[in-house]
Amino acid sequence: MSKSTESERVIIFDTTLRDGEQSPGASMNLEEKLRIAHVLEDMGVDVIEAGFPIASDGDFEAVREIAKVVTESTVCGLARATKMDIERCAEAVKPAPRKRIHTFISTSPLHMKHKLQMEPEAVHEAIIDSVSMARNHTDDVEWSCEDGSRTEHDFLCRCVESAIEAGATTVNIPDTVGYAVPDEFAALIRMLFDRVPNIDKTVISVHCHNDLGLAVANSLVAVANGARQVECTINGLGERAGNASLEEVVMALRTRQDHMPYATGVTTEHIIKASRLVSTVTGFVVQPNKAIVGANAFAHEAGIHQDGVLKHAGTYEIMTPESVGLSQSKLVIGKHSGRHAFREKLKELGYELGDNAVQDVFRRFKQLADMKKDVFDDDIVALVDDEVVRANDRIQLVSLEIRCGTKHRPPKAEMELTVDGEVKSCKGTGDGPVDAAFNCVKKLFPHGARLQLYQVHAVTQGTDAQAEVTVRLEENGRSTNGQGADTDTMVASVKAYVNALNKLLVKREKSVPPALSA
Ligand code: KIV
Ligand code: ZN
Repeated sequence: MSKSTESERVIIFDTTLRDGEQSPGASMNLEEKLRIAHVLEDMGVDVIEAGFPIASDGDFEAVREIAKVVTESTVCGLARATKMDIERCAEAVKPAPRKRIHTFISTSPLHMKHKLQMEPEAVHEAIIDSVSMARNHTDDVEWSCEDGSRTEHDFLCRCVESAIEAGATTVNIPDTVGYAVPDEFAALIRMLFDRVPNIDKTVISVHCHNDLGLAVANSLVAVANGARQVECTINGLGERAGNASLEEVVMALRTRQDHMPYATGVTTEHIIKASRLVSTVTGFVVQPNKAIVGANAFAHEAGIHQDGVLKHAGTYEIMTPESVGLSQSKLVIGKHSGRHAFREKLKELGYELGDNAVQDVFRRFKQLADMKKDVFDDDIVALVDDEVVRANDRIQLVSLEIRCGTKHRPPKAEMELTVDGEVKSCKGTGDGPVDAAFNCVKKLFPHGARLQLYQVHAVTQGTDAQAEVTVRLEENGRSTNGQGADTDTMVASVKAYVNALNKLLVKREKSVPPALSA
């Protein structure tokens, strides 16, 4: 990364845990949010928007727990322009050494009239009150004008000036509905710099949605015109078509230093790890041709391209796979490798596990190495993730036998589960082997949750690859994602179903209401 002066530094504000989690079906539990927060912090993200504390007790708890453990990044919580929201948010971010309250209100005519049913004067007053109130809790206050890109310019300038006067240290201009196009958005940011007299007292930020596929382009032109914070998410997760993707913004800035001489604090080599974690936790598969993190982003299929890359990588590669943390999927260690070498491998992959966890994963690695010819880094990652997600499950799979194929109609499943330590068994049938197995789970642990997603993907190539399965269950408006990995797709499927069910039980216990929308 090039050396930068303060004015060339772009602050990376990640909202995967807030706007990202607002994607239907992308809900994450506390443990998953903490894992993502740690990865974001290690990656060098400047600000982590950890949630919307007033939305639910679960959101509050997540922001507060993240605030307790994240020390390098600023931990931010979202709040509407009300006393109740701001106080709840302040309480949640309080433990963080660096904390931010992000308060917002709509400023476009459409939103003020139909959503808020407030007159512009009342909105203007609410901005001053909310920012001043937030400043009583922390010196780091961000204010956002929701639907900013569709706000009348005179009113926008007045609101921005007042927010800064009231103490907003960051002013965020969202393209909430992803409507802006680059030259228009660039002109909007320039207009603010030209017309708002106190604009040099704040950091101008942008928050672009991707409804027209322009979120990254709009974010970059905003930077070129003075914005110094970009709000984004891993894998571009977020409401509707998502937010600007963190990896695309950061890699565009890194790769095109000649055109955009701005630096970020992100260690780009952590990008793939973050992308995989977010994809596994949410069950949102990254499309193969997605820029930077898609499975094909660095693959060269055409012979002419392969030939060129072999002669000189720069012929078809504008960035190296290593620069985003993509190592050649290496053969790791063989089945004769010892525990010490295995622990070293875990460290190299970024996992610091306790002795018991290492023991469990090592045992599974040995079993895997017996079954599978080659064990790759990705296999180890899948094993560890599988072990970690299952650590506190009340329901566990003990055994599974399936009979299916042309001679076994309907398919039959025999299963043993432990429920709170008690072993239960049953037999069941179904339309297919997965259906038969899931019916067994329902018999052994009756529940009304509906299956919303069943998805299988191969961890590595080859027919002996581990299957990684994601299952999404929904009950009373709450959804949870479960994961399972195994060389046997049916075992992975049941593990994923049972994992989703376990997470639902935790949600039931805490009776977290479905999240409020921002
Ligand atoms: O899209 C949006 O406008 C938002 C705000 C709350 C910043 O997410
Ligand atoms: Zn948003």
